[in-house]
Amino acid sequence: MGIVGCGAIGSRIALSITKELKNHFMLSALYDIDSEKAAGLSRRLKARRGVVKRSVDELIASCDVVAECVNTPAAQGIIAKAVRARKKVLVMSVGRLFTRNSLFALARRHGSSLVLPSGAIAGLDAVKAARLAGFNSITITSRKPPAGFQGNSFLIKKGIHLEDIVSDKLLFEGNVKDAVVKFPQNINVAAALALAADSTRIKVRVIASPSLERNTHEIVCTGKSGTIRTITENVPCPDNLKTSYLAVLSGIQALKQLSDQVKIGT
Ligand SMILES: NC(=O)c1ccc[n+]([C@@H]2O[C@H](COP(=O)([O-])OP(=O)(O)OC[C@H]3O[C@@H](n4cnc5c(N)ncnc54)[C@H](O)[C@@H]3O)[C@@H](O)[C@H]2O)c1
Repeated sequence: MGIVGCGAIGSRIALSITKELKNHFMLSALYDIDSEKAAGLSRRLKARRGVVKRSVDELIASCDVVAECVNTPAAQGIIAKAVRARKKVLVMSVGRLFTRNSLFALARRHGSSLVLPSGAIAGLDAVKAARLAGFNSITITSRKPPAGFQGNSFLIKKGIHLEDIVSDKLLFEGNVKDAVVKFPQNINVAAALALAADSTRIKVRVIASPSLERNTHEIVCTGKSGTIRTITENVPCPDNLKTSYLAVLSGIQALKQLSDQVKIGT
């Protein structure tokens, strides 16, 4: 397996290859635009020489499965390259993929596989089943401690100072297309929900909540099969407060399933 992006998620996926994934994958390549991050991770893992690659192309050439774990729009180009090379690709930047869903057609044309984990939310299994009968309404409300929105350029442009927020503040209410553009690193969950529901008519609410210690996502879907209501209260990943620990675990579990013949859950 090759991992592009050796930050919070990429590092933990790499570490999982020595634990949960040890019977499923071998780590063959690491790449990060910050070469010291890839080198540091390789040292921590006591990986063999040559695991750190000098480019995405070199990484893609040396593995069958690519885990995309970067935090920039470059994710789209990395996924496209891996798909063209017919690799299986775990996509963590689901929000970035949402704005370039032509990559789905590309993957089907090239016989590649794109795996989008549920990430920090619960209920995509039920949403996928319920969509066959149709929905009346879908809402997702994401609440995070203000620090989880640090560096967000939409909020900076709006002049919102996160440190001044003393009670719940609605930062955004709107559709999923707008949400993924304004909160590219916070709203992978809304993108995953929209893709699972096969609908863009989703109401997204983003709230900064100083009283919260956990990133919380609440989904309510109503439709012909009934109502689905899920809440996840996630511990932030210590390495990156914007990322929920559950999202990391979800990526690892998705990889495990990818290599398993038995599939449990829809
Ligand atoms: N699906 C979900 O539910 C979910 C949840 C949390 C985070 N995410 C997404 O997963 C991705 C990774 O999250 P993270 O917490 O590990 O981020 P992070 O900031 O901790 O790490 C990202 C790493 O990518 C590297 N990088 C940036 N551009 C690169 C490039 N062009 N090539 C190679 N490396 C590059 C950075 O140097 C950094 O080391 C983000 O896009 C995030 O939005 C998804």
